[in-house]
Amino acid sequence: MDLSLPDWVEDWARHAPDLKVPPPGPNSRAIIEKDRKYVSHAYDRMFQFTMKKASGSAIMDADGNVYLDFSSGISVMNAGWSNPKVTQAIKEQAENLTHSLANDAYFDKEAEFAELLAKISPGGLLESTFFGNSGAEGVEAAIKLSRYYTKGSEHISFMGSYHGRVGNALAMASRVKYKYGHGPYPPGVFFAPYPYCYRCWFKQEYPSCNLLCVDYLEKAILEFGGPSGSLASVFVEPLQGEGGYIVPPKEFMPRLRLLCDDRQMLLVADEVQCGLGRTGELWECNSTGTVPDILITGKALGGGIPLGGIVAKRDIMSVWRPGSHSSTFGGNGISMAAGLAHVKEIIEGNLCERSRVLGDHAMKRLSEMKENYEIIGDVRGKGLMIGVEMVKSKETKEPLLVPEIQGRTWRKGLMMITSGMYGNVFRIAPPLVISKEQLDAGIDLFESVVGETEKRMSTSR
Ligand SMILES: Cc1ncc(COP(=O)(O)O)c(C=O)c1O
Repeated sequence: MDLSLPDWVEDWARHAPDLKVPPPGPNSRAIIEKDRKYVSHAYDRMFQFTMKKASGSAIMDADGNVYLDFSSGISVMNAGWSNPKVTQAIKEQAENLTHSLANDAYFDKEAEFAELLAKISPGGLLESTFFGNSGAEGVEAAIKLSRYYTKGSEHISFMGSYHGRVGNALAMASRVKYKYGHGPYPPGVFFAPYPYCYRCWFKQEYPSCNLLCVDYLEKAILEFGGPSGSLASVFVEPLQGEGGYIVPPKEFMPRLRLLCDDRQMLLVADEVQCGLGRTGELWECNSTGTVPDILITGKALGGGIPLGGIVAKRDIMSVWRPGSHSSTFGGNGISMAAGLAHVKEIIEGNLCERSRVLGDHAMKRLSEMKENYEIIGDVRGKGLMIGVEMVKSKETKEPLLVPEIQGRTWRKGLMMITSGMYGNVFRIAPPLVISKEQLDAGIDLFESVVGETEKRMSTSR
């Protein structure tokens, strides 16, 4: 497989990272100043620069600094920044129609996109789509639909899970950080332990644990943990994203499937972050042959334009009557054109395989790094969704605060964001079109900062 950058990637982007001035440069600083004055501080800006343009797996700031991007805009730009097929589709659509009246009329690309999603859904068995505008809206739709279908009102979510920042989706999130100050939350969400084997909640080892965490859900939470017996659905990320890029054992999703079947609950797979080629599978559910009842998608679905939604089994989706759910901009002209072009690029560009090949290479390199550095506790992932968990020591596993490493790495031109319950997991999640050479250059840079940090830590002890 050719692992160089696609031909369309602009010249300047091929030389990432390439810094002209120490960031933030004067142009970025001027914009940041205005932003701080007028834009809500709710956004947690990790990088102090302003976006100017992007191509392939590189981003240029307002001062001409070029950064290598290891986050894909949080798993959005899977087929690469400014992919020309997506850009062209947006331009053509904009010249004809932007707002496509999903509420009141029909639109060709909405039907075409939904048909494609049905064909590529897990097992080809989820045949009906509702389009909204974001991942969280997809989650809200799945909550409503699972209640409507089952007549239940309670849900299982998982520790470490993240499903968005509004309403019921926020109630499904497990971290205090996200929920603080915004309650009360609707009752009826019960949290089960996710199989975070590096920090097993039950101090067990896989596989001898036989997934005690799922037993706990089944025997302790469902029987004695407070649900009223009116359960609607189990919400699960097949590979946990914000929780720390945690890959569950292969038996996990099939066990949840069985559990849901036994108890007439719907299995809802949130693939907003891990879907659409990120893990080397079109959907991460496919890796265990699990067919959920409802699949939530977002992020990469729109190729950079806001889009999210649910893809569900036909008999489940068809319980909704006209008016049961709606959105002014659902199925919007631009988001349909962009999303359709982006998903086609992922499929036709063979980006799942590329994600697997590059991911295997990165995993090998990062696992070797783990052997050489005390502060790398765990390396895990699939495809180009890899987490590197930083610790103060391998023995204690005490989480290492990482803003310093992140800042140093960025000032050298590599953008890496973090995740994890302790915020100590670096995400290696570049656009799937990144070249092997750029992937290696980024890992080299990361390694140099890890090495410097470890040295500084040992001299300050
Ligand atoms: C698994 C998962 N679900 C839902 C969401 C919410 O998506 P959005 O930010 O588009 O509302 C996210 C966002 O990070 C996510 O990772």
